[in-house]
Amino acid sequence: MTTYFKSAFDVPLRIPPMWLMRQAGRYLPEYRNLRAKSKSFVDFCLSPDLAAEATLQPIKRFDFDAAILFSDILMIPYSLGQDLWFVEGEGPKLGELHENLSTLFVLEKLKPVFETICRVRQELPPEKSFIGFAGGVWTVLCYMIASDSKDWHGVVLWAQENQQKFNALQELVCHATIAYLDKQIESGVDVIQIFDSWCSVVPEKFQEKWVIEPTYRIVSFLKAKYPGIKIIAFPKGFGNLEKYVLETGIDGISIDYMQNIDLDLPVVLQGNLSPELLVKGGDEMEKSVHDILEKTKNKRFIFNLGHGILPHTPIENVEKLIKLVRG
Ligand code: CP3
Repeated sequence: MTTYFKSAFDVPLRIPPMWLMRQAGRYLPEYRNLRAKSKSFVDFCLSPDLAAEATLQPIKRFDFDAAILFSDILMIPYSLGQDLWFVEGEGPKLGELHENLSTLFVLEKLKPVFETICRVRQELPPEKSFIGFAGGVWTVLCYMIASDSKDWHGVVLWAQENQQKFNALQELVCHATIAYLDKQIESGVDVIQIFDSWCSVVPEKFQEKWVIEPTYRIVSFLKAKYPGIKIIAFPKGFGNLEKYVLETGIDGISIDYMQNIDLDLPVVLQGNLSPELLVKGGDEMEKSVHDILEKTKNKRFIFNLGHGILPHTPIENVEKLIKLVRG
């Protein structure tokens, strides 16, 4: 069945379908309650009851056009055998990059995620789309190599000084991501989003090898196996988006809040409201929403933020945003 959300890939719609990046999360009181039931964030992601409920919460409250799987892009390094934990107020930490990371147990370790997808698919109304996701290979490698320092420029140097190691890690993450997304689709998601949040630090001469090629491999595998699947990418800070779109073969591109969305690209556009403006609300937000709607009028478009919703976003502003978009 083609959902309203998916029809936006084919034709411009008068009212664009909408969802928000990180729509399941800490700005929702019901999420904070649910989150309190699990000590560790990784356990939470691996508890199908909790993760399915978190996935459905924003749909129940706001009636968005698509749900996004509750999980994290860092479940891939976890499944490869790298330790992963989250420190309150600091973010993710990954353990040492030891030699025996392997794709051998990826699907087994991520089984609870597929169980979450099956449960959500049963409860989600059939007219809603269900977005599965993974991190872009580059962004996942940034965390794997330097989560502690968050020095992504350091990763750029490391990759050049340790080419063989970097290539091997890239292979590993690319294979794991393909297997993971393949299984997500088999379990019931009908759209995929690839979050490549740290493209801005990749030097132009490495864009092909570090960003485009692994993305192309993921996209071409999935599209060959599942012709109906739609794939959106969020290559934040990539620069030449036309090159990215044409060379990766994606169906949709998520535009960050620093770009002008007045673009002519042969795919569906998504984005690009500033998450800070959603926190602020008021006239400034309203003006920006109208501006985005005006620029995307008569284009294929999905309304979204230009990056994840911030934890201190007032619920009333989200309600106001939905009224503005849906008129
Ligand atoms: O969008 C959704 O609602 C689905 C779930 C989702 C999460 N993370 C849940 C989460 C998705 C799609 C992500 C993607 C993700 N995770 C990205 C790419 C998008 C982006 O924001 O750039 C990245 C880089 C990560 C890695 C990550 N996970 C970081 C840096 C952090 C800590 C910072 C933060 O936001 O707290 C996380 C933790 C995380 N992932 C939380 C949630 C709801 C907060 C932790 C908690 O609730 O305890």
